[in-house]
Amino acid sequence: MTTQQPAAGTARQSAWPDISVNGGRAVGVDGGVDTRAPLTATVTVPGDKSITHRALLSSLITESPVEVRNANPGGAVRALLDPLRLLGFSVRWSGGSLIVEPDAAPEGGEVGESGEPVLDVGGSSAAGRLLIGVLAGKGISAIVDGDAVLRQRPMEWVVEPLRELGARIDYLGAAGRLPVAVRGPVRRSVPITLRVGSAQARSAVLLAAVGAGLPVEIGHPVRSRDHTERLLAALGADLVEDEQLLTYRGGALKALPVIEVPNDPSLAAYPAAAHLLWGDGSTLRLPGVCLNPTRLGFFEVLRKAGAAIRYEDRAVVAGEQIGTIVVEGGLDGVGPFAVEDEQTFHSLIDEAPLLAAVGTRLPGSSRIGASAELVFKETNRLLTTQEMLRGFGADVTVSDTSIRVEGGAPLTAATVDGFGDHRIAMTAVTLGCALPGRTTVLGGACHTTSYPGFAEDMAAIGADIERDGE
Ligand code: S3P
Repeated sequence: MTTQQPAAGTARQSAWPDISVNGGRAVGVDGGVDTRAPLTATVTVPGDKSITHRALLSSLITESPVEVRNANPGGAVRALLDPLRLLGFSVRWSGGSLIVEPDAAPEGGEVGESGEPVLDVGGSSAAGRLLIGVLAGKGISAIVDGDAVLRQRPMEWVVEPLRELGARIDYLGAAGRLPVAVRGPVRRSVPITLRVGSAQARSAVLLAAVGAGLPVEIGHPVRSRDHTERLLAALGADLVEDEQLLTYRGGALKALPVIEVPNDPSLAAYPAAAHLLWGDGSTLRLPGVCLNPTRLGFFEVLRKAGAAIRYEDRAVVAGEQIGTIVVEGGLDGVGPFAVEDEQTFHSLIDEAPLLAAVGTRLPGSSRIGASAELVFKETNRLLTTQEMLRGFGADVTVSDTSIRVEGGAPLTAATVDGFGDHRIAMTAVTLGCALPGRTTVLGGACHTTSYPGFAEDMAAIGADIERDGE
């Protein structure tokens, strides 16, 4: 399996409004009077994007209704809703829940040459890759396509192993890229070896195998986020997990009519980082967050470096650990960090730009290694992280597999590009919150991909933030 590297970060996607933030924090605001007293702030971040995607797809796998409570409301999740409708499911919001029911008349839409539906997943790689897996498992013929950015991202991670399992999948454009046509199901039980740590790749293969009831052994380099495994086990799949080997042995599937999605740790990281960067002695509480260890790298790396982060109110909901993340104080006494292994890297893969931003405010040299897969995100995040942080004056250098940050460089508020990439944009706004003066993030409103209420939540903990034109 070869994967070509895309060029540098994409050019600015100016369709999104800019976001500006005036650095500093209003704490203890009482009746309009800023008392400057430390406060305890609580932010409830949205439901987890990855778990929402998997919960929605469980309806397609079990062919039964599901109510996905506390569904992530962002664009990446919405990208999966029309494809489900085109496959004959009704999908509607009811409060914070998404209700998915089979047996609706498939909505008309674009069709391919053989009459198969064209399922456009916009810019969401998770929606695209996981959907390809489910289609190949259930033997549903369809074309999966995405927007111009997603069309540049690797699909061979998913398509090649599914072909090894006997699925018929054709590239309709460039090899290894969307659009692809899924034309025949997986049917050969052969051992699969994945070379990338991508959870989406492993999940797609597993979803296909379980959807088809086809026992399979999947060798993989790293135990990246394991929400698919947890959900499928809850549905009745017989899974055995060993170091770097995942075995599916069959098992009758049952429906899960209600899936409660915990709050998203990758989104909780932004208010947590702002809080640490402000460091004004107050306390931040982030309740109901998914505490799955495969997702907690951002918090754990900083906790081990000395940040006052702890977990309270622990519980298990729908096979996932949840709890309140409590962040106290700031970065005083926190040392530099080094991420060297793939396991830790994958547990903070989406927070790598943010962790690098925090590193700019730590003493000494911090490093995020094992990070080659950042090249394949919405932008080449090695490069876009470097460029965005350098815009503030940070001393950052990247290689093909790492980001190095020399802490202590004097940073100033700036106008920087969000590159149309929600993680880069939210990182830039978060860093700007702590720098005196006004920071503008061009196209910053692309945060709606995963966190539509980002600006409101940041304002609620004291950020002076505004969307262009407001
Ligand atoms: C995701 C897995 C990760 C992550 C993405 C969501 C998932 O991507 O970056 O935001 O839902 O499985 P990769 O699998 O490409 O590493």
